[in-house]
Amino acid sequence: MTLTSSDRVQAVLAAAASGAAHGTFPVEAFADDSVYQAELDRVFAKSWLFVAHESEIAEPGDYVLRHLGEDEVIVTRDEDGRIHVLYNACRHRGAPVCRGAKGNSSHFRCPYHGWTYRNDGTWASAPRKTLVYKNLDTANWGLLAAPHVAVKWGLVFASPDPAAPSFDDYLGDMAWYLEAVFGLDSRGMIVMGEPERALLEANWKTGAENYCGDALHVAHTHKSLEDLGMSQQLLREQEMYSMFSPGKGHATFAWNLERSGLPIEAPWGYPKQVWDLFDQGELTADQQRFNAERMPLAGLVFPNFGFFRGFSFDPVSQRVMVHTQLRLYQPRGATKTEVLSWLVFHVAEPEEYRTKSYQDGLFVLNAPGILEQDDFTLWNAPSRVGRSRFARDHEMGLNYQAGLPGMSRGGPIEDHPGPGESYDSAFTEGNIRAFQRHWIDQMNAGNVGSADPGRPGEDR
Ligand code: FES
Ligand SMILES: [Fe+2]
Repeated sequence: MTLTSSDRVQAVLAAAASGAAHGTFPVEAFADDSVYQAELDRVFAKSWLFVAHESEIAEPGDYVLRHLGEDEVIVTRDEDGRIHVLYNACRHRGAPVCRGAKGNSSHFRCPYHGWTYRNDGTWASAPRKTLVYKNLDTANWGLLAAPHVAVKWGLVFASPDPAAPSFDDYLGDMAWYLEAVFGLDSRGMIVMGEPERALLEANWKTGAENYCGDALHVAHTHKSLEDLGMSQQLLREQEMYSMFSPGKGHATFAWNLERSGLPIEAPWGYPKQVWDLFDQGELTADQQRFNAERMPLAGLVFPNFGFFRGFSFDPVSQRVMVHTQLRLYQPRGATKTEVLSWLVFHVAEPEEYRTKSYQDGLFVLNAPGILEQDDFTLWNAPSRVGRSRFARDHEMGLNYQAGLPGMSRGGPIEDHPGPGESYDSAFTEGNIRAFQRHWIDQMNAGNVGSADPGRPGEDR
């Protein structure tokens, strides 16, 4: 019997839902084209998606090309300073009106028949306008735009869904954790350099899961850091982790660097004279305590935006440099992901520190960095297995059981000052299971009779 694409999606969702109770997930979800098309419709078209950092489009007329799902959009700042997310398709015959990855322009002129749009998306002109379009209702022929755009902590998100919840509702308790990281100084953050891009033969969820909190891979995948003397004891680092699951598919994890044996002067490894420059103006006392005790290391805003505040350690100079990375797992197909990575710095950091930290960051993070090389060689595995006839015939599911009751030591943090569920160890995949349950919910939305994937947090 040949399954229709809708049958295949239903079969994968049923396997995901039944596996959620005992920590398994079907490999087909990392490779099946029908599942991927359903994700574009039910996840990416319904979510708030990261499109840019505000500092990338600092001046009127600045723009960058990005995507909402697979649809290309121009993120612009208009002449009045407002940000727009415009669908890059001419309203005449659909040709792209912008082809540069970034630039500055007051208008976008279509290369096909010359229709021209202002950088706020409104229709501006066309060749021989008075002869050809004497009575064109120009107010109705501007570029289509994302109906919702929000900017918070300099992060620009947009939702293609007219019925989307507010961005605050969408984030829920995740805002508390993002604020702790990106709200460290009220002068904000800026991007340095270009976003780096890497095209992987991997499904977007593999990267997303990694940023939810795949702490168990660190000591093995990244043993190269230990070999180079850049991390003194990776296994001990695993003991330093804690996991936080704020709900709605978002996740974050943290560590206590004081237990690392590294020469740490201030949270995250900032030099004390740099740390003292951060005003922490918007942070509550609880957020300040959280930052001091358990520095948020990385996290994921559902579905595909990640952040990572890590460090590089030079064993010769014994110097620790802190860098913050923004990360987008841009879907390009069921088994293709374009990874975009930005390095961002607090405006308050002295320029000399920023520059040096940026250089060190490139060595560890981003496409050419040590960490990414380690990860990228392995992230194609779920997609490869997901395409396998053998795996399908044997109904192979992947294992996410770490941290289920009776599996590993660790439990909730007694005095955690923040919202959501917590877990005082690296030895859990609970954050990933929470991400998967939210994915199942989103994929099942509108499907009558879908299986109940269980409630977040019930199986940490
Ligand atoms: S397609 Fe753009 S002007 Fe015709
Ligand atoms: Fe990694």
